[in-house]
Amino acid sequence: MEQGRFISIEGGEGAGKSTQIQALSQKLDSLGLAVKCTREPGGSAGAEEIRRLLVEGLAGRWDATSEALLVLAARRDHLTKTVWPAMEEGTWVICDRFLDSTYAYQGYGHGLPLDSLDQLHAFTLGAFRPDLTILIDLPIEDGLRRAHSRQDRETRFESLERAFHERVRHGFLERAQQDPARFIVLDGSQSLEQVSDQMIQAVLSRFELFVEE
Ligand code: TMP
Repeated sequence: MEQGRFISIEGGEGAGKSTQIQALSQKLDSLGLAVKCTREPGGSAGAEEIRRLLVEGLAGRWDATSEALLVLAARRDHLTKTVWPAMEEGTWVICDRFLDSTYAYQGYGHGLPLDSLDQLHAFTLGAFRPDLTILIDLPIEDGLRRAHSRQDRETRFESLERAFHERVRHGFLERAQQDPARFIVLDGSQSLEQVSDQMIQAVLSRFELFVEE
């Protein structure tokens, strides 16, 4: 059986990732592919427990290094328990955030050296990388406005200062620029329909999936 593919969706706070993931999953499903949607931090029982440690509570609860180690522990558990077994069975996995979020938030945002993150990822993931990464780019004011309008407890990162979120946005864009073969960058300030149309077209063409008219 052919292995499933792994697609990550990235972006700052309030970029509209959940809506786009739903649209993409429905499209792939309609083409007869088995699809699993998951998220980071989280996506397995152990990683969801770690998620709560990361996204709830005060901003200063962890220093950047502890935060990165928690994220990587969650990522390893998610891969071994959820992602790799699904891909082995031929399922396509769509993941809300993945390693580029660690570079953007812990690297560019909090200032951890990027080569330390390279080493941590080599240790945790080996050579595994997403087959495709979709970055939904959005001015941070728009994203934070959307994120604040959600009523939830997961506000630890949202509460960080504006300059932090600017660095995160710049980090994502720089990662995309450095690896154009893996990334598709979409303008998240367009309507949700425009973004999903562009995303679906890009995914179909990247994987040479043909839709029968
Ligand atoms: P979410 O709100 O998009 O589900 O993401 C949860 C938070 O976790 C978000 O504020 C970004 C943060 N995060 C990191 O800081 N590093 C990471 O590697 C990941 C995956 C998420």
